[in-house]
Amino acid sequence: MALITCEKATFAYEGMPVVKELDLTVEKGQYLCIVGENGSGKSTLVKGLLGLLRPVGGRVFYGDGLKQTQIGYLPQRNDHQTDFPASVWEVASSGCRGLWMNATKRKQIKELLELLGVAHLEKRSFARLSGGQQQRVLLARALCATTSLLLLDEPVAGLDPVVTREMYDAIRMLHKERGLTVVMISHDVQAAMQEADHILHLSNSGSFYGTPFEYRHSDLGLAFFGGCCCHE
Ligand SMILES: Nc1ncnc2c1ncn2[C@@H]1O[C@H](COP(=O)(O)OP(=O)(O)OP(=O)(O)O)[C@@H](O)[C@H]1O
Ligand SMILES: [Mg+2]
Repeated sequence: MALITCEKATFAYEGMPVVKELDLTVEKGQYLCIVGENGSGKSTLVKGLLGLLRPVGGRVFYGDGLKQTQIGYLPQRNDHQTDFPASVWEVASSGCRGLWMNATKRKQIKELLELLGVAHLEKRSFARLSGGQQQRVLLARALCATTSLLLLDEPVAGLDPVVTREMYDAIRMLHKERGLTVVMISHDVQAAMQEADHILHLSNSGSFYGTPFEYRHSDLGLAFFGGCCCHE
């Protein structure tokens, strides 16, 4: 069942199209990775899926009762300020949009912080955490908003290899054990091929959508990662 469908969707800034006539369905239970060159429109598309940006052509619609406000979103790292004076608890709980804070909600936030291994930091200043800790808190924040769909814009950018692996493990657990549908933007094509079940490659010269196997043998896939060291 499709959670989000784009039909010939075009997203633009000041009349300049960035994503052009894209057909895409995000299926329930999918782990979709969006790859592509800098400036190819990945973050723009995710903002379009979230409803932060309206298509100037075509349409985007939601299925299975999904509402835009029930999508968990982890923005690209330079898209948000990381030096604002808020505690870990305040940042995580800010994901609970439009809901009164009550004991059930507080318990849920606590559980999410525990799940992601950052509950012991709840009183700490968010600005003073390491990059990896901040990303985990922001993942908990995204999870406060949803039990169905996570949109993650470069969640491992700037993280060291060990913390990167831990972050991928956490996302895989959320997908496999909690049944969340995941849409993740990444420049780490090898990891995308291993983690995701579908790949969308956005490029100024067109796009590709298919399984990692199909992507590996596609013109765009071969050109982008050069056919190197990805295992079947
Ligand atoms: N708010 C904006 N106003 C005008 N142009 C924008 C805006 N945001 C992005 N753009 C432009 O749209 C294009 C696509 O940007 P986008 O951020 O979607 O790319 P991206 O694929 O996410 O790149 P990266 O890999 O660097 O994050 C770029 O040319 C960018 O300059
Ligand atoms: Mg981006």
